[in-house]
Amino acid sequence: MTTDALYHVGFGTADLPEPVPSFAFLSGDPDRATLVAQRHLERPRLLSDHRGLVSYVGWLGEVPVLSCTSGMGAPSTSIVVNELAQLGITTIVRIGTTGSIQADVPPGAVIISHAALCRQGAANDIAPPEYPAAADPFLTVTLADAALSLGVDHRVGVTASVDTFFEGQERSASSANPNLMRSVRGMTDEYRGLRIMNFEMEAGLLFKQALVYGLSAGCVLAVIAQRTTGEQVVMDVKDDAIDHAVAVAVEGARRWTTR
Ligand code: URA
Repeated sequence: MTTDALYHVGFGTADLPEPVPSFAFLSGDPDRATLVAQRHLERPRLLSDHRGLVSYVGWLGEVPVLSCTSGMGAPSTSIVVNELAQLGITTIVRIGTTGSIQADVPPGAVIISHAALCRQGAANDIAPPEYPAAADPFLTVTLADAALSLGVDHRVGVTASVDTFFEGQERSASSANPNLMRSVRGMTDEYRGLRIMNFEMEAGLLFKQALVYGLSAGCVLAVIAQRTTGEQVVMDVKDDAIDHAVAVAVEGARRWTTR
């Protein structure tokens, strides 16, 4: 850690190569940030492992990129995105996991979110609730083209981003709390009717924050639960789904950074 390290991510500009990276992959899970760096980047180097936020720098050909951890949920993501922006990052692609709420979007598929219904408290500190939670449209097309070229089963759609994995995603059978409030009961059906594809916990905040900060943001999600049939994560498709989402994000990054 150098003297200009930022407080939460634990690294600073003095840790970064020249040219300074402008692109970052952002994974909720530190193990996924490590997988991206070690499997897909050339010359990966650990920048920091601080508060559970693992960050790497590596290269896609001639282009330096970061692979960082957002942690779970909007508050942690907002801090990491803010510090990455301070360090010169202008494009962020979230690589996450998600639960599908549409019967025709199966576990194992990939969702590229072009917008989010953002029901996230932290986002209201950055912009009003009505502010659009939209991905960069050009980055989204680049990610979708990458998925197509890789033959990955993918959908482009609207995501519901919420603050809780259990109550906020209408889980009760697999939760310590079976007593869901009226305000969330029936929400999954309602969202299905609104053609929302899936639940997750970071994209909406990221999209709003990126728009306010003048960054480009995109989001690639591995479908690991199917909420039309149950609440649980489908463990036997999880690793493959994540591999596909990571492959799409990396191919998208190659195209975006060399366009
Ligand atoms: N992440 C979520 O937020 N929900 C799911 O169902 C799976 C992953």
